[in-house]
Amino acid sequence: METVYIVDADAAIRDALTTLLESYYLPVKAYDDSDSFLRAVGSTSKGCVLVEAELPGLNGMGLLRKLRNNGNTIPVVLLTSNAKPGFIERAERAGAAGVLEKPFVGDELVNQLQALVGHDTWTRMTLPHASDETLSDGARITIRPIRPRDRLIEQAFVRSLSPMSKHYRFFSGIAELSDHMLDKFTHTHYPGNVAIIATIMDNDAEEEIGVSRYAMTSELTAEFAVAVADAWQGRGVATHLLQRLMTIARQAGIAELVGIVLRDNREMMALARQLGFALRRDDYDASIVHASKKLAPDVGEVGDNKHTIASASAN
Ligand SMILES: CC(C)(COP(=O)(O)OP(=O)(O)OC[C@H]1O[C@@H](n2cnc3c(N)ncnc32)[C@H](O)[C@@H]1OP(=O)(O)O)[C@@H](O)C(=O)NCCC(=O)NCCS
Repeated sequence: METVYIVDADAAIRDALTTLLESYYLPVKAYDDSDSFLRAVGSTSKGCVLVEAELPGLNGMGLLRKLRNNGNTIPVVLLTSNAKPGFIERAERAGAAGVLEKPFVGDELVNQLQALVGHDTWTRMTLPHASDETLSDGARITIRPIRPRDRLIEQAFVRSLSPMSKHYRFFSGIAELSDHMLDKFTHTHYPGNVAIIATIMDNDAEEEIGVSRYAMTSELTAEFAVAVADAWQGRGVATHLLQRLMTIARQAGIAELVGIVLRDNREMMALARQLGFALRRDDYDASIVHASKKLAPDVGEVGDNKHTIASASAN
């Protein structure tokens, strides 16, 4: 997934924009000046840049010109609270995708940004958004990509798993995730690694009840894992999570999903079979089974892309 780069000297603006854009499942990186952006990002032309026009040092227009002089075509949107007459025209002549005026109104900003950077860039920057699903027992759950700010609910979910579920998921009896693992599990980068969580609302607080994830191990293969809160097992949550994960993996061009399942994990073996995974015993370790499923090239099977920005903002 491509990234939105924010360049603004004002920490409050950087934080507000990051929170807003991440709520739309956009990956965001923020810098306080042009030089640190250029040092970190170098010559990438993927994603888009939101840069404050009146930056100290190399200002927004200067950064735009520098990128264009280097032949970099990344869409650049200038942010300004003080657009002097002719500023927008000058910005566009210099190659800006557009200008957004502060103060911003949340959803409006996102809609304008989407229009300015164009459909193709926007699609490459966004994962399929949240969708609400109904389980066969009538329970309503939300399925959505994980976000960096899901650390607390991800940790609470892992802590709440029974020792047996932890054993089946992590092959060990961990009590909780380390800080390093929490970072890794909540900062995913499409297409290389993706995590989809299932959540419910409990007294106005969002609770994680399941997660499926994959990490690419080669250009065409990814390893998957899944876990569902004990109280929610056997109700179809993992089926939803894995179907969504498979759709995303297929869209990312992954040809095969593989996973390791403990042989006495009947639930996972049954679920894997049901989802069309082939199961093969390990050649050396009798306690392990390899599950694998070839993914046909994307033909838009589940149609996740129909979930619009509007549906994401509803969550
Ligand atoms: C394995 C696991 C992810 C399944 O999640 P789930 O949400 O319960 O799965 P679903 O409800 O979507 O079940 C789908 C199928 O799995 C099988 N299954 C799930 N729970 C089952 C149970 N208690 N007994 C028998 N089969 C079961 C069934 O085939 C079921 O099909 P059905 O709905 O037609 O009966 C869950 O049990 C879990 O989190 N286990 C601990 C962690 C783990 O084992 N992870 C796998 C590591 S790769």
